[in-house]
Amino acid sequence: MKFFIDTANLDQIKEAQALGVLDGVTTNPSLMAKEGISGEANIINHYKAICDIVDGDVSAEVLSVDFDGMVKEGEALAALNPQIVVKLPMIKDGIKACRYFTAKGIKTNVTLVFSVGQALLAAKAGATYVSPFIGRLDDISTDGLHLVSEIREVYDNYAFETEILAASVRHTMHIVDCAKIGADVMTGPLPAIEGLMRHPLTDSGLAKFLEDAKSL
Ligand code: G3P
Repeated sequence: MKFFIDTANLDQIKEAQALGVLDGVTTNPSLMAKEGISGEANIINHYKAICDIVDGDVSAEVLSVDFDGMVKEGEALAALNPQIVVKLPMIKDGIKACRYFTAKGIKTNVTLVFSVGQALLAAKAGATYVSPFIGRLDDISTDGLHLVSEIREVYDNYAFETEILAASVRHTMHIVDCAKIGADVMTGPLPAIEGLMRHPLTDSGLAKFLEDAKSL
């Protein structure tokens, strides 16, 4: 399973990259706003800075909601770096734009996916990634992980190449469960990734080894 970090914070991206397990980055307008990034030039520079830190795919979301606007924005973003994946909302014009970019060999990530039907449509449009938001489904008492397993089943039935990018991952167990049910990618915050390495028996075991090592 690929690990993406879901943030626009450069320090956290650097920290995850230094860990040596990072395969890419996802951003969205809310995450960019959280970092205080605004204005076209600053947004472009920020995406460039992210691409300089990581080796893998970097999802950059268009702000337009009409086909022409998405194409214009997406082409400008894709021209920044081959690592850029154009992130498109799961709406009618987003699907049309997804097909357009796929035909041009530009990678896409169809976002704000909350149903199997939406994921099926994204795959039909040739999306590189589809992003089901598991945490936001959990928030409304709906099983986000179940959606991921349903999409897995449908994609496997027809050998769709679209990768399932489990998004809105909130905690460490989301990552473990995504791996069990076959998500191709998960994108989550740094603390959720770091949680994978923690175990009290590791801590106590290491403390004992270090204590015993004193007599060596
Ligand atoms: O990748 C999508 C993600 O940023 C949404 O996460 O926590 O706002 O639901 P969240």
